[in-house]
Amino acid sequence: MASPTQRRISLGDFRHEALSETSSTNSECLARARAGDPGFLWVTAERQTSGRGRRGRAWASERGNLYASLLLIEPAPVERLASLPLAIAVAVHQAIRMVLPPGSAPLEVKWPNDILIDRKKTCGILVEGERLDDGRQALVIGIGVNVSVMPDSPLYPVTCLREHGSAVSPEELFAHLFRSMAEVLDIWSEGRGIREIAARWRDVACGIGEKITVNLPDRSISGQFVGIDDNGLLMLKTGAGKMMQIAAGDVFFG
Ligand code: BTN
Repeated sequence: MASPTQRRISLGDFRHEALSETSSTNSECLARARAGDPGFLWVTAERQTSGRGRRGRAWASERGNLYASLLLIEPAPVERLASLPLAIAVAVHQAIRMVLPPGSAPLEVKWPNDILIDRKKTCGILVEGERLDDGRQALVIGIGVNVSVMPDSPLYPVTCLREHGSAVSPEELFAHLFRSMAEVLDIWSEGRGIREIAARWRDVACGIGEKITVNLPDRSISGQFVGIDDNGLLMLKTGAGKMMQIAAGDVFFG
C-alpha cells in the first residue's frame, strides 16, 4: 500500500505512439529521452529493421510479433533499480496469461525476465539506460513477444503464442501489456514494493530448486538455483556448498 506521500501510477500517466516501422523501439525511446521527453512513453512498431537483443545480439523483427518499448525517466533511486526487471517480467507474464487459452502449457518466467511457454522462449526483454546531458537517468524497457512468428534461434528453443492456440494480435496483446505494466509499476512503487513483486515473481518462476548453468561474460557457473533474494539477485548454490548472488547472466537448465 502506498503512503500518502508516494506517487501512485495509473493508466492516465502513460502515452503511446504506434509506428509502422522503425530501426528499434528502444532507440526511438532513447532519442525521445534525449529530446526532453518526460517519460511514461510507450513506443510500438509493427516491424523493426535493427531490433536489438541482449548481449549485442540481433532480435529478428518481422511483422506479426509485438515490439514495444517503455521510456521511464528517473524510475527509482539507483540502489532500488536492480528489482525493476522482476517487476517487468511480472507485468509481461500477466499480459500474456490473459491471451492464452485455458489449459495451455505452463507459462513461466526465466530469471530475470525471459518469458517461456513449455520451457521455450516466447518473449525477450532488453533494459537499456542512459544518463542524459541534463543529468536525468533515462531507462528503456524493450519487450519483444513472439505472437505469430517464431524466429530461429541456435541458442535456445523458441515458441510463439499462435503455437499455443492464441489468436491474439500484437495490438490486442499490447492493450493488455499497457494495463498490466501500469498496475505492476504502481505496486513496485519505485522499488519500495519489491517484496510483493518478488513474491509474484516466485509464483511464476521456472526452475527454482533445479540444477542450472549461468553464463557470465567471462565464465560459466553451475549449481542449484535456490531462488532470488529481495533485490532480485539470483541465488546459486555451487558444488562447494557456497552461496553466490548473481546480478546478470544467461540461465540454462539442466
Ligand atoms: C533478448 O535478447 O531476449 C531481449 C530482446 C528484446 C527485444 C525487444 S523488441 C522491442 C525492443 N526494441 C529492440 O530493439 N529490442 C527490444
